[in-house]
Amino acid sequence: MTDSSPVQVPGTVLTMRRIGTYQTMTLVAPGVAERFRPGQFVAVAVGGEQSSMLLRRCFSVREVKPDYGGTVEIVFAVRGKGTEWLAALRPRDIVDVAGPLGRPFPLPRDPVNCVLLGVAHGSAALFPLAAVLGQRDCRLHFVLGGATSDDVLGARGARRTGDSVAVATEDGSLGSAGSVGDLLPGVIEDAQADVVYACGPLDTLRAVTRTCTGYGIPAQVAVEEPMACGTGVCMACVLPVIGDDGGTHMVRTCVEGPVFRGERVRWDDVGTIPFDALGAPRALRLGERS
Ligand SMILES: Cc1cc2nc3c(=O)[nH]c(=O)nc-3n(C[C@H](O)[C@H](O)[C@H](O)COP(=O)(O)OP(=O)(O)OC[C@H]3O[C@@H](n4cnc5c(N)ncnc54)[C@H](O)[C@@H]3O)c2cc1C
Ligand code: FES
Repeated sequence: MTDSSPVQVPGTVLTMRRIGTYQTMTLVAPGVAERFRPGQFVAVAVGGEQSSMLLRRCFSVREVKPDYGGTVEIVFAVRGKGTEWLAALRPRDIVDVAGPLGRPFPLPRDPVNCVLLGVAHGSAALFPLAAVLGQRDCRLHFVLGGATSDDVLGARGARRTGDSVAVATEDGSLGSAGSVGDLLPGVIEDAQADVVYACGPLDTLRAVTRTCTGYGIPAQVAVEEPMACGTGVCMACVLPVIGDDGGTHMVRTCVEGPVFRGERVRWDDVGTIPFDALGAPRALRLGERS
């Protein structure tokens, strides 16, 4: 069985491609690729050895392949200095990668009807998941969205692998005008969905959870709470989540997440520490994680 603890490796840039508003980077990162499970992410050091940007930047993994000892593909939009630096890298450049980090999506034991919902770059996390669900003979129904057609990630790949694909853009430039949340009830009904997997902004995940609760089906959501260390030591990424004991716990999205059962997250209290919340658990060292 493969060791699942994360590794830190020098990743070699294999390819850089531009797709719409996104930059796609494939890194040769042996050790990361073979340990990866869908829903996990990587944390990349930015700015080079003398950089004043001390914090790693986190990215979902869109694809892993065994080529060259193991490759990892990430897709990102240029937002600030870190992603600007990453976008300027060229093949054969070296970048420090830590991963895979976080907990993966739980997988169904039996073939079930799955809705995979992603907004903007959040859709990246859905594709490795779709590959594994497909191997388990699950039916795959995609719901993809973004502000404009350029923001929708992976519609072509979804049409290739999915049983159905519904797209929504806020400006109506691709698919229907509106949000993915507007499309979800119809897709759940048509697909007779058993579970929804979602990745996107918090508002979307909150709406997805509410819809799923209404239909009595689970929502497995991957949250993108801004992170600092990505490894569980700094407590920058805590989220109020209801535990098995019924109490609210401030949990770290980088190690206890990023995937949560939607109805366990106290969406209305995100960004606060609810008065009844129990403290975050003792910080674990990387080697202590299962
Ligand atoms: C688990 C996880 C997975 C992610 N996956 C992807 C991905 O696949 N593709 C992608 O493009 N981005 C992804 N992000 C967001 C990405 O980490 C940030 O966009 C990136 O850190 C920005 O770095 P920067 O130095 O360019 O910008 P900064 O200067 O750090 O920030 C620029 C802007 O981005 C916002 N920002 C910074 N960090 C985050 C964050 N973690 N989440 C949301 N907004 C943020 C800031 O508020 C600011 O407005 C992910 C984040 C997490 C936590
Ligand atoms: S980002 Fe540091 S604990 Fe999660």
